[in-house]
Amino acid sequence: MTDQSTWGFETQQIHAGQQPDPTTGSRALPIHQTSSFVFEDTTQAANRFALAELGPIYTRITNPTQAVAEERIAALEGGTAALLLSSGQAASTFAVLNIANAGDHIVSSSSIYGGTYNLFKYTLAKLGVEVTFVEDQDDPAAWQRAVRPNTKLFFAESIANPRSNVLDIRTVADVAHENHVPLIIDNTVASPYLVRPLEHGADIVLHSATKFLGGHGTTLGGVIVDGGTFPWSQHADTFPGLTEPDPSYNGVSYTGAVGDGIAYIIKARVQLLRDLGSSIAPLSAWLLLQGIETLSLRIERHVQNAQEVAEWLDSHEDVATVYYSGLPSSPWYAAANRYAPKGVGAVLAFELKGGVDAGRAVVENVELFSHVANIGDVRSLIIHPASTTHSQLTPEQQLTAGVTPGLVRLSVGLEHIDDIKADLEQGFAAARAVVAAAANA
Ligand SMILES: Cc1ncc(COP(=O)(O)O)c(C=O)c1O
Repeated sequence: MTDQSTWGFETQQIHAGQQPDPTTGSRALPIHQTSSFVFEDTTQAANRFALAELGPIYTRITNPTQAVAEERIAALEGGTAALLLSSGQAASTFAVLNIANAGDHIVSSSSIYGGTYNLFKYTLAKLGVEVTFVEDQDDPAAWQRAVRPNTKLFFAESIANPRSNVLDIRTVADVAHENHVPLIIDNTVASPYLVRPLEHGADIVLHSATKFLGGHGTTLGGVIVDGGTFPWSQHADTFPGLTEPDPSYNGVSYTGAVGDGIAYIIKARVQLLRDLGSSIAPLSAWLLLQGIETLSLRIERHVQNAQEVAEWLDSHEDVATVYYSGLPSSPWYAAANRYAPKGVGAVLAFELKGGVDAGRAVVENVELFSHVANIGDVRSLIIHPASTTHSQLTPEQQLTAGVTPGLVRLSVGLEHIDDIKADLEQGFAAARAVVAAAANA
């Protein structure tokens, strides 16, 4: 039998984790739209509940359609196992709560998605988990200074949105490991085609699969991938939830039952997902997989279009600043070449010389670009983050997340590049008119 781990990315994105259906021969993956699975006998039922046999029980916890998506994404990230959930927010929540309890502390870059920032700062605080935000994620000493005796994990995005800053994953992973805690990376903007954080020392990767993995703006989903390398059982005092008997699961020790390599994902599935229930629907898992089958092709074109838009904006007389780490002028250009040599994705941002009013006029006057709160669609998308995605943050918090008042964010789609530029140019013309009218008023 072929060793699937030797397959190239393009082959894995189509085949990893799936065989033709053994009952029907169906070549495409069946959508197992069922809540529950028939056990052969009481022994099998008992073994599945006892984790002695890893088979489906009930769709809240496992489902064969989800399982293929999980195996495939784990393969693409180079991890040991994955857990697919109902949204990216569920993935971030589970990734933290799986190892941090009330009284614990986490360290996160402040340069993260606004929804994750809120989750960490307010909702986790209500659950008793405190966060320290590192405002300069490029400064390893700042990560070290944030560490406390009760710190359980580090968190950052590989390529952050909207400034396109590329994390020095290796350096931050080293600081995390010196402090015996894992580094969790949100790899949503990059996708595993551009950045594979586990190869650079990260321990856990997560995604809003809603974005580039699904790729078509149709389906919410989130995923956590276990790198399988963090030695939980060597740090049993810090992570007793993984190593000590779980009274809610017949006294199982997760590391004892399945080993350090998949204990984290198994615990998240059989404990958190069992109790919190943020499961993904089988149809959603299937739709996300449909997107994943063309991931490399889409990302190549996303990058090609985004790079061209960034260069065009950079030389445009109406534009004050462009944030895209594929530009040599970006402070993260060297990090981009090191961690994302195939390109830094499709999300970029810019400021117009005309400021906030000009930015809003562009958003309101483009036609091909859709004005939506999303990224990673085949369609080109545009938004004004300060008044939308990051609006629940204070102006100061917005700045630490890289969101200035006049910033406009693009997720460059797969349309013809000439049409993309023409549409932006039409928005810029409207913005010039707005600025001129204000000057004359
Ligand atoms: C980087 C990043 N992480 C997480 C999320 C949350 O994902 P979801 O919207 O699927 O819950 C988003 C959503 O915009 C995101 O951009």
